[in-house]
Amino acid sequence: MKNKKIHIKTFGCQMNIYDSERMLESMKSENYEAVENEENADLILLNTCHIREKAAEKVYSYLGRYKELKNKNLNLKIGVTGCVAQAEGKEILKRQPLVDIVVGPQSYHNLPKILKNTKNGKKIVDTEFPIEDKFNILPTRLSVKRSVSSFLTVQEGCDKFCAFCVVPYTRGNEISRPVEDLLKETEELVSQGAKEIILLGQNVNAYESIYKKQAFRLSNLIKEISKNKNLKRIRFTTSHPNDMTDDLIDIFGKEKKLMPYLHLPVQSGSDKILNLMNRKHTANKYREIIKRLRDVRKDIAISGDFIVGFPGETDDDFHETLKLCDDIKYAHAFSFKYSSRPGTPASNKKEVDEKIKSKRLSLLQERIIENQKKFNESFLNTNVEVLIEKKGKRDDQLIGKSPHFQSVVLNGPIKLIGATVKVRILSHNINTFLGEIL
Ligand code: 5AD
Ligand code: SF4
Repeated sequence: MKNKKIHIKTFGCQMNIYDSERMLESMKSENYEAVENEENADLILLNTCHIREKAAEKVYSYLGRYKELKNKNLNLKIGVTGCVAQAEGKEILKRQPLVDIVVGPQSYHNLPKILKNTKNGKKIVDTEFPIEDKFNILPTRLSVKRSVSSFLTVQEGCDKFCAFCVVPYTRGNEISRPVEDLLKETEELVSQGAKEIILLGQNVNAYESIYKKQAFRLSNLIKEISKNKNLKRIRFTTSHPNDMTDDLIDIFGKEKKLMPYLHLPVQSGSDKILNLMNRKHTANKYREIIKRLRDVRKDIAISGDFIVGFPGETDDDFHETLKLCDDIKYAHAFSFKYSSRPGTPASNKKEVDEKIKSKRLSLLQERIIENQKKFNESFLNTNVEVLIEKKGKRDDQLIGKSPHFQSVVLNGPIKLIGATVKVRILSHNINTFLGEIL
């Protein structure tokens, strides 16, 4: 039988990239093959992100473009998956009738069945939060070609309910995967050439499970995974300050394979705003966590997320954010203008003026880049261990990562992909180092 063709367009976070791979995998067993170009597809999935900006509007504008394709190929099926699917549900079918299926992140394992049910033009919306463990139902990814740095989802969902955020509603409760499955998947990834594993979860540091009758937290998992001899590096993302327990802080000082880099969103430097955001920690508690991390791992690079213009944020509040940014000396940070998400507690609060939000965002970004530049400059003319991940733009170019998660471009033979090499850092721009192999 001729293979059918699937095209998945992925928006947003690493979790979505991972989910897209798994959806692809489950459709491969249904005789689908992936195509780059949507014009050739029999099935197009938009795997969407709802976290910021006008996410839903973007999805509708994409969908509008598929009208012509659908006219040309009457068998073409179009699906919306991911967090916009979860949040909008059957609204999507109302607004854009060319959509055939709407599937939330908890139902991806049903995708083949859902598609079979769309014969005869039936439309399907599946955005339930089932009790069953979707991780166990989705196929393992043995046939997926893994990269030198591979993601491994260990936890999903979030119980924190920050006042601005849709994740607890679109991704559901925190669920941790069993340790046995994670160790098995680590073996598989490493046997396919992964040298670095990035443990992934919306709230990864809330990981908890039982292994050999013992309570297992993220620190235990890191220790256990690091026993794999061919695995060189471990990272994890994303974390909440309130789950940065002592065991997890300490492991940065103990486990050499755990890289000196932590993404720890803070959102604001003002206690008043943190409280309104329902973050349940103060700015000083965050400072204290970073101090303790630096006590055990002096060189640790800290990255963060900020939101400016949250409802109620005054100039003074914003200046406290700038102050925190300077105190922490971020190696890197993402910053966003607050944007209201329907259904979240902050969504009915009076908004800060758009111009003020924009002004604050550019001031904060200036400050972040200043700090980032200083951080990167401190590596000039030093030697760093670079894990080579892939080919660069030019034939003789390679791209890798430093322990502190900086990209490094250098010249070298392709056979070095997967190797860790010592590199002299010669120059840098904001995001990338240029180096030479020693
Ligand atoms: N508005 C702006 N930024 C948001 N984020 C999450 N929700 C919103 C929102 N409604 C940001 C937070 C989070 C990151 C992934 O996205 O900073 O840490
Ligand atoms: Fe959203 Fe807060 Fe959960 Fe992060 S911790 S996913 S910002 S609710």
